[in-house]
Amino acid sequence: MAALGSAGRLLHFARSSFGLTLRRRSTAAALAQNAAPETQENRKPKTGILMLNMGGPEKLEDVHDFLLRLFMDTDLMKLPVQSKLGPFIAKRRTPKIQEQYSKIGGGSPIKHWTSMQGEGMVKLLDEASPDTAPHKFYIGFRYVNPLTEEAIEEMEKDGVERAVAFTQYPQYSCSTTGSSLNAIYRYYRNRGDRPKMRWSVIDRWPTHPLLVECFAEHIQNELLKFPEDKREDVVILFSAHSLPMAVVNRGDPYPQEVGATVQRVMERLGHCNPYRLVWQSRVGPMAWLGPQTDDVIKGLSERGKKNILLVPIAFTSDHIETLHELDIEYAQVLGEECGVENIRRAESLNGNPLFMRALADLVQSHLKSNEPCSRQLTLRCPLCTNPTCGETKAFFASQKLS
Ligand code: FES
Repeated sequence: MAALGSAGRLLHFARSSFGLTLRRRSTAAALAQNAAPETQENRKPKTGILMLNMGGPEKLEDVHDFLLRLFMDTDLMKLPVQSKLGPFIAKRRTPKIQEQYSKIGGGSPIKHWTSMQGEGMVKLLDEASPDTAPHKFYIGFRYVNPLTEEAIEEMEKDGVERAVAFTQYPQYSCSTTGSSLNAIYRYYRNRGDRPKMRWSVIDRWPTHPLLVECFAEHIQNELLKFPEDKREDVVILFSAHSLPMAVVNRGDPYPQEVGATVQRVMERLGHCNPYRLVWQSRVGPMAWLGPQTDDVIKGLSERGKKNILLVPIAFTSDHIETLHELDIEYAQVLGEECGVENIRRAESLNGNPLFMRALADLVQSHLKSNEPCSRQLTLRCPLCTNPTCGETKAFFASQKLS
C-alpha cells in the first residue's frame, strides 16, 4: 500500500513555520531600525476580511478548551443539560484527541495555512482592487484563538470601514458557517451596539471555478502517483465531514452543496474515473448522513476495487480529519486490514497559489456586487428551531453598504 506522505507534509509545515519565525524576527529588527514599515499587524485597512473557520488546537494543552467550546456551541449541537454534559464530554474526550494530535506533530496546522492564504489573498486584492485597498485579513476561529469576537474587536480598533465575513467552508451548513455568523450577530447584540463597520458576507462558494480547478489539479497530481496499469481502475472517494440526520432533515443545505462541488470537479476532469461522495467523522449513537468513508473503503475492497483515491472536498486546509482520520486511520490502518493495493489522498489546498487567487477573486467580485449576502442565506432551514438564526439573517440582510 502506498504511503501517504503525512511525514513529508508535516516536515514541510515545520519548515514553513520555521521560515515564518525567522521572518517575524527580521520584521522586528526592521521595525527597530526604521520607522514602522507596513506589516500585516500595523496596516491601517479600509477593507477588513474576516476569515471564518472552526480552528484547531495548536498545542496539546489547547485541546480541552477547544473541545469545551465545541461541545458548548448550541448552534452546532443541542445536548440535554448542555451546561453540564458539554464540559463532561469535553473532559472525557480530551486524552483521546490529544493522542491524535500528538500523532500529527502536536497540533493543528490550520492557523498556519489560513495566515498564508490570507497574506496571499490580500496581496492580490491590493493590486487588483485599489478602490477598496488597503485590505487586511483577520482570522476568526470559533473554538480556539484567535476567536471571532476578538477579531471583530481588532477590526473595530483598526478603523475598518468595510467588513467582509468570509467563510472558509466552501459549502454552507448551519452547524459551521451558520454558527460563525451567529457569533458575529451575538457579539453586537450582547454589546447593545450597532457596528461601526459596514458588514457583508461571503456565505458559500461551492462551485467557484478556481476552487474547482484547484481540486481537479490536486486529483490529477495524485492519480499520476498510482501505477500506470491501475490508474483507470482507481475509485475516487470524495470525503466530507458528515452531519447528524436530524440536521439534514431540518433542511440544512450542506449535502446538496457538497454534491455540487463534486459534480463540477468531475465535469472538469471529464469523468475520468468512477467516484462516490462519502461522509466521515461520525460520532455517537445517533443516525448520521452516510455512507461512511470507512464502510465504503471496506465495501469496495470486498468487491475487488483495491485502488482508491481519497479527496477531502469540504475543508480546504489540512486538519485532524485529513492528517489523522484519512491518512492514518483509513489509509494506513484500515487500508492494510482490508488488503487494499493502493490508497492515496489528494493534497489539501493549503498553500496552493491558485487557491489564494480563488479567495481574492471571491472577495473582489463580492465587493463589486454590493450585495450584503447571497439570496440563499436569507432563507432559514424549513424546520429550524433556533431563533438566533433568523435574527442573524436579518442582521446581515439589512446592512447598508453604500
Ligand atoms: Fe438552519 Fe437555523 S438551523 S437556519
